[in-house]
Amino acid sequence: MPDVTVLDHPLLRHKLTLLRDKHTTTAQFRQVAREVSLLIAYEVTRDLPLEPIEIDTPLERMQTEHLAGKKLCIVPILRAGNGILDGMLDLVPSARVGHIGLYRDPATLQPVEYYLKLPTDVADRLVILVDPMLATGHSAVAAASRLKQSGVTAMKFVCLLAAPEGVANFTQAHPDVPVFTAAIDRELDSHGYIRPGLGDAGDRLYGTR
Ligand code: URA
Repeated sequence: MPDVTVLDHPLLRHKLTLLRDKHTTTAQFRQVAREVSLLIAYEVTRDLPLEPIEIDTPLERMQTEHLAGKKLCIVPILRAGNGILDGMLDLVPSARVGHIGLYRDPATLQPVEYYLKLPTDVADRLVILVDPMLATGHSAVAAASRLKQSGVTAMKFVCLLAAPEGVANFTQAHPDVPVFTAAIDRELDSHGYIRPGLGDAGDRLYGTR
């Protein structure tokens, strides 16, 4: 059974509508993408383990809890993945950040890596791989494979929107990597766009079209 979570929260659904609306400006899109990412990060980190700790409040000593287990590393797939990095860092500011850059070879249509920079201890961290759009899934599949080659054993994948084809391809290639998304849309069109979708996430984030 594929491990896919479609997040369901009124704030998320409202903000996703803003992202989809073609009248949303670049500045608004960027801000809302950040807010949505924070809300998704809240859900993705829901199962982080805690351990007991004793602290002093201003009034007395108490038993409480703090995070234990693997530290986090967020890895955006360039360039659109950067649009959901800041919202995640708003919630987990001490997370490390890696970057992976992939482009699509026009002849083979396969993703080719052009950039990779990861923390040296990435293998010891829980990696959250992020890309706003899980369309064909080719980039996400390649990025997750590359992270595994780099020693990563604990990973989750986060996107804002997914196409059924992308979900199928990713979960088949990486059944051990849970997927979190705000919505799964109807289909992928012949140009590789998610429908109804929100357009080209990179262009909408950076105003390049
Ligand atoms: N990438 C995007 O930015 N948008 C899509 O709809 C598909 C892939």
